[in-house]
Parts: sequence; structure tokens; C-alpha cells
Amino acid sequence: MDKNPEIELRFSRAADSVFIRELSIVAFRPYGDYGDVVPDWHISGNSITVIACFEGAPLGFAMVSKPFSRYDHNNSSELLAIAIEASWQGRGIGRFLLKEIENVALEAGIMTLFLHTAIDNRNARKLFSDSGYRVWQVKKGFYPLGQDACVMAKKL
Ligand SMILES: CC(C)(COP(=O)(O)OP(=O)(O)OC[C@H]1O[C@@H](n2cnc3c(N)ncnc32)[C@H](O)[C@@H]1OP(=O)(O)O)[C@@H](O)C(=O)NCCC(=O)NCCS
Repeated sequence: MDKNPEIELRFSRAADSVFIRELSIVAFRPYGDYGDVVPDWHISGNSITVIACFEGAPLGFAMVSKPFSRYDHNNSSELLAIAIEASWQGRGIGRFLLKEIENVALEAGIMTLFLHTAIDNRNARKLFSDSGYRVWQVKKGFYPLGQDACVMAKKL
């Protein structure tokens, strides 16, 4: 985090749903309308969200589901979403947030983290593959706007 020593990470509060909604609308727009879906996950009681802030103002978030057993793995979970505001991208904050949400997942007993990302989302795929995620399967036409997704997985 040398490039951004002043970025702070904290667990989300209910009031962060407004920020999560606004960022989800913009960040996931290429793939569909996620303005209701992601805030619904946030308040579902089945997820944990970490917020990245600069001087108290949120600029990004990462969200994992609570442990479940899926894809034949016990104690697994899904990285439901990760997004950084466009003006803050490319400064190492996404990588910082990903590492932190992995630590949070480990503390919650999660051993394997899955995620879906669009095959054409090159920035995200590079972040995930550089961070140790490997392609698990491909889902054709997964997103509301028709893009294919790959499921990636990492043993924490
Ligand atoms: C994916 C996302 C969270 C990455 O956040 P970020 O803060 O920009 O990422 P970082 O600055 O930490 O970069 C981490 C790595 O991601 C990749 N990356 C990020 N931005 C990139 C860019 N503009 N061009 C190329 N690679 C990029 C690189 O591998 C980078 O590592 P490097 O700097 O060592 O090359 C951010 O681009 C985003 O919010 N995108 C929109 C939402 C989204 O697609 N989320 C993922 C699907 S759930």
C-alpha cells in the first residue's frame, strides 16, 4: 500500500448501502443492473463487507458471502463483489481490499473462495490471477447483458 498509505479499511454499516448501490450501478453497468442486487446482498445477513475509505469517505468495497458448501467444497464462500471508484482505480486499492477480505474470510472459517468475473473483464481477471485465483469453470451467458463468466477459485 505504499502508493496509498492513507487508505483505511473498515467493516460496513447499514448506511453504506447507499454508497454500495451507487458504486454498483456504475462499476457493474457493462454487465447489467446491479443497483438493487448488491445492496440486497449487503443487508441480507449472509455477507460480510469491507469498505475502503479516504479521509472517512468511502471509495470502494469488497463483499463475501458467509461460509457455505458449494462446488463440492466445505467451508467455501464467494467473493460476491469488489469495486473501486473509477478515479481511484489503478493505485493498488483493489489488491489491498482483496487481501483484507481474504483475511476476513479466513477468520470466518472460510477455506476456499470462489468468484464470478466476466471473461472480458481483463483488469479484474489479471488482479485475481495475480492474487492466486485459478479458473474453475466457464458459464456461458451468465450476466444479464449476455457476457460469459468464469468461476475462479483460491484456497486461502
Ligand atoms: C477490478 C478492480 C476492483 C481493481 O481495482 P484497482 O484498485 O483498480 O486495482 P489495483 O490498482 O489494486 O490493481 C491490481 C491489479 O489489477 C490489474 N489492474 C487494475 N487496473 C488495471 C488497469 N487499468 N489496466 C490493467 N490492469 C489493471 C493489474 O493486474 C493490477 O496489478 P499491477 O498494478 O501489479 O499491474 C477495479 O478495476 C474495479 O472496480 N472495476 C470495476 C468493477 C469490477 O469489474 N469488479 C470485478 C468483478 S466483481
